[in-house]
Amino acid sequence: MGAVRVRMEAALQRLLPAPHIVPERLHRAMRYCVLGGGKRVRPLLAFAAGELAGADPARVEVVASAVEMIHAYSLVHDDLPCMDDDVLRRGKPTCHVEFDEATAMLAGDALQPLAFQILAEHVVADSPAEQVEMLKILAVACGSRGMAGGQGIDLASVGKALSLPELEFMHIHKTGALIRAAVVLGARCGRGLDAEQFGRLERYAKSIGLAFQVVDDVLDCDASTATLGKTSGKDAAQEKPTYVSILGLKRARELAEELRAEAHTALSSFDEPAARLRELADFIVLRKF
Ligand code: IPE
Ligand code: IPE
Ligand code: MG
Ligand code: MG
Ligand code: MG
Repeated sequence: MGAVRVRMEAALQRLLPAPHIVPERLHRAMRYCVLGGGKRVRPLLAFAAGELAGADPARVEVVASAVEMIHAYSLVHDDLPCMDDDVLRRGKPTCHVEFDEATAMLAGDALQPLAFQILAEHVVADSPAEQVEMLKILAVACGSRGMAGGQGIDLASVGKALSLPELEFMHIHKTGALIRAAVVLGARCGRGLDAEQFGRLERYAKSIGLAFQVVDDVLDCDASTATLGKTSGKDAAQEKPTYVSILGLKRARELAEELRAEAHTALSSFDEPAARLRELADFIVLRKF
């Protein structure tokens, strides 16, 4: 994990606009939001899936960078006063606090197309058609049928008691979609998987994508601001429907465990090359931050 994180930091450094290029303030804000923080779970998943599919790590680095830029943009906008109104992210002031609201909005606006630019500029597939398909996978994952759609449901659900299927739908979209994209795009950088194996990898991705947000909900009420690097207890304060508010802390923890078991089952016939994916399923559910 350490090696992937170091590699990703260097790749993101290189792929982001230099801070001295005009408009400097916007470029500094973009770099502030992407560099030097975060668990880099999505890149780690892309590399692990790439390993399973026998992918060239140079290709995986590109798709992982694109996904991480989309993720960073989603956090910047998620923290804005018009959304979750958060002042702390990755142990630092949020983008709109460090810079200003308009700059934070633009930093997100600019990170999103940069992700697609990167994916268009580097060869990550064997054919142009496959490369276009990969661009589409990322587009769907972050659009209104993916992350942005889930965020829309999140905002519309404040103060409401969602049913369990509604809650699952929200979480699968706002968080699961991009996590799935990280896994799928990492695997698509290689050509080692047949359709049936791909199906199993998708099942893994779906389980850990949901598990990730279930654990995020648990940590929001269970961990301290200091360990999280973001304000804890905000979901309850803002009356967000979460797995904790709907199921209670104990049952939410159990569900995360069940999803972890499902993820392992999905990988069961893969053997050694799936070792990193297994470790990441454990990390996602057992993490403390
Ligand atoms: C936080 O994501 C937002 C969610 C989608 C739950 P992460 O927990 O991956 O945030 P970083 O990247 O490690 O800061
Ligand atoms: C955010 O969910 C999901 C995104 C798409 C960014 P949260 O609002 O729970 O994420 P945190 O807790 O602020 O990181
Ligand atoms: Mg939110
Ligand atoms: Mg939030
Ligand atoms: Mg949260």
